[in-house]
Amino acid sequence: MSTDTLLEVDDLRTTFATPLGTVVAVDGVSLRVARGQTVGIVGESGSGKSVLSRSILRLVDARNATVTGRVLLDGRDLQSSTERQLRAVRGREAAMIFQDPMTALNGTMRIGRQLTESMREHLDLDRRQRRQAAADLLRSVGIPAPERHLRRYPHQLSGGMRQRAMIAIALACGPQLLIADEPTTALDVTMQRQVLDLLDAERAERGMAMILITHDLGVVAGRADEILVMYAGRVVERAPASRIFTAPRHPYTAGLLGSIPRLSDEPGRELATIPGSPPVVIGRRVGCAFAPRCPYARSECTSTTPPLVAAEGRHGGPAEGGDHAHACLFPLAAPTLARNGGRP
Ligand SMILES: Nc1ncnc2c1ncn2[C@@H]1O[C@H](COP(=O)(O)OP(=O)(O)OP(=O)(O)O)[C@@H](O)[C@H]1O
Ligand code: SF4
Ligand SMILES: [Mg+2]
Repeated sequence: MSTDTLLEVDDLRTTFATPLGTVVAVDGVSLRVARGQTVGIVGESGSGKSVLSRSILRLVDARNATVTGRVLLDGRDLQSSTERQLRAVRGREAAMIFQDPMTALNGTMRIGRQLTESMREHLDLDRRQRRQAAADLLRSVGIPAPERHLRRYPHQLSGGMRQRAMIAIALACGPQLLIADEPTTALDVTMQRQVLDLLDAERAERGMAMILITHDLGVVAGRADEILVMYAGRVVERAPASRIFTAPRHPYTAGLLGSIPRLSDEPGRELATIPGSPPVVIGRRVGCAFAPRCPYARSECTSTTPPLVAAEGRHGGPAEGGDHAHACLFPLAAPTLARNGGRP
């Protein structure tokens, strides 16, 4: 693992045993996050983003779950760590902002206590120092009158304040990696931007790496260095962010791009979305999971499973502009896509 790689995930697979059969929620995902880098993970609801992020930190709590694969955080193998070792890692080295602040925060504990608990566990600070650090953190995430908010319970805060409190708790012990799972879905557009800017500022100031998970490519635009697009538990495209937006090769990515609302769109205009929804994968599957929704599907797509392969450039060589991979048997043409919709 190269020295600036902070997180390395290899062939992660998470399945759930259910009465309907084995649900394959994450199906052989590999990824790397360098120190200080932001990696965006994008996909529709049900594509496996939350299960992936929980699996990385071994936080899949369902008794019916099986997680396999390798996760190295700063060289340490998390999959073979004991629960005690994992507790030392969580919060201290890697922290997570969960999708739903109401279920992630402890409703019966004041915000101040929730902030100082993890400091007590991980940092060598006395009670007064912890209290001071907690107030400073709330102030840094834009919560006014922090002393007063430290005494509040989660239900006494507005949605935006709760989200900020969660961010403060995640940052409390100065993690090297922050996994933010849909950190802004519950917020209005202005608040979304504020919270995302705040996360980015904290990341830059602390040199922290971040995995930013969202169903909305607009959220990661201009914020992620690299983007992974997930579909039915797999990575279907991976590329530097600029290439995802200007030269996507997978039809699903192109479909997601069609769904980004533009500021110039007149109000009330319907979004161009991809008809249908992602499947729940049960048992072993053959073929491309996107085939039933793909406008470019051919018969091979249902019989051959597309592997994640390096994208080729215009003349058959490597793609211009860095590491770019897709899992499509008939990828969109590069780089004229922006003008003609991508078909050769
Ligand atoms: N405990 C469980 N038992 C069975 N299946 C599960 C369980 N938890 C998740 N799944 C399934 O795993 C798949 C991936 O779910 P996941 O929550 O990771 O999706 P997501 O991409 O985070 O979606 P969203 O955008 O809605 O948050 C879904 O098909 C879901 O139904
Ligand atoms: S493999 Fe076939 S069905 Fe799947 S995305 Fe590519 S063209 Fe579409
Ligand atoms: Mg989710």
